[in-house]
Amino acid sequence: MAVLVTGGSGYIGVHVCVELLNAGYDIVAFDNFVNSKPEAVNRIRQVSGKEFKFYSADMTNKEELESIFRENNIEAVVHLAGLKAVGESIGDPLRYYSNNIGGTLTLLETMDKYGVHNLVFSSSATVYGTQSGVPIAEDTTLRATNPYGWTKLMVEDILRDLQVSNPEWGIVILRYFNPVGAHESGLMGEDPSGVPSNLSPFISQVAVGRLQELLVFGSDYPTPDGTGIRDYIHIVDLANGHLRAIEKVLQEPGIDVFNLGTGNGCSVLELIRAFEQVSGKSIPYKLVGRRPGDVAISFADSSKAQKVLGWRAERSILQMCQDTLRWQINNPQGYMTLASLHS
Ligand code: WQD
Repeated sequence: MAVLVTGGSGYIGVHVCVELLNAGYDIVAFDNFVNSKPEAVNRIRQVSGKEFKFYSADMTNKEELESIFRENNIEAVVHLAGLKAVGESIGDPLRYYSNNIGGTLTLLETMDKYGVHNLVFSSSATVYGTQSGVPIAEDTTLRATNPYGWTKLMVEDILRDLQVSNPEWGIVILRYFNPVGAHESGLMGEDPSGVPSNLSPFISQVAVGRLQELLVFGSDYPTPDGTGIRDYIHIVDLANGHLRAIEKVLQEPGIDVFNLGTGNGCSVLELIRAFEQVSGKSIPYKLVGRRPGDVAISFADSSKAQKVLGWRAERSILQMCQDTLRWQINNPQGYMTLASLHS
């Protein structure tokens, strides 16, 4: 029996695949490489020392999905595949609704056809929108503020209706806060194409001299140092949260939702200082205006995952920065394919 990982060569995907393999699961994975590179698949094998089947496939393609389910004995699915850029989703909502929701519907229909009713779904703290207070618990009112967030919220609702229609389904929804960091080997990490829109990869590229200066979006927020506060969680801690979630869906039917965060807030200036501490380099930055759509403060109440899943984040901000830098130094251009190395 195998666990299928959709979006298996993405930033989250490679780390989830490694942790599943390390825990002794057989896995099958696929990706359409819209936001990742085939070299990432080799890194999973290199880091885990394990073999597994990987397909180049698209979740919106029913035939491709059917072949994967026909050729493998799948018992559960970790569903990570999806477009995830907030700004891009505002400019191209149909692509986001069609891919993230349409693709998920195709996946769920195929799972049901092949009698696979165990699912871990990658959701996001973005479903909390501009929430009232912090820490944010799972029962906070949900309100997305962009098409990307709406796709996550709508899929959550679809999953609840599905489970009511057939109680055999075992579903866990994981709401990620801000995943950062990289595998300690330095062989896997975040590999955004172009200039990173997220803070952590941007700072790390400034630290290694790939980018000149960080623009700090907003210094007049109601926070101790005026900059935005987020709950940065190490990608390996996040990946381990998926192991606990898989165990739960394999044990019992039902549906439940959990925050994956550290429960601690960290400001932009604090993250800059942490990167300076571990890199020994000064990070040039300029305070500029707020980025539209940003909230001032967001960090998790992660006590439910601790109580029910027996999971908690263990890695520190400094370790997140150390692992990010190691990845950036070892792979300044991300997952270089052999072809591009010789081009
Ligand atoms: C963090 C803080 C910025 C860049 C996003 C998505 C969310 C999720 C995680 C998918 C904020 C500030 C950033 C920069 C800055 N993705 N910042 N200069 O916006 O909290 O979450 O990624 O699920 O859906 O919205 O993360 O890293 O972009 O920003 O000052 O160049 O860093 O204002 O306060 P965010 P982020």
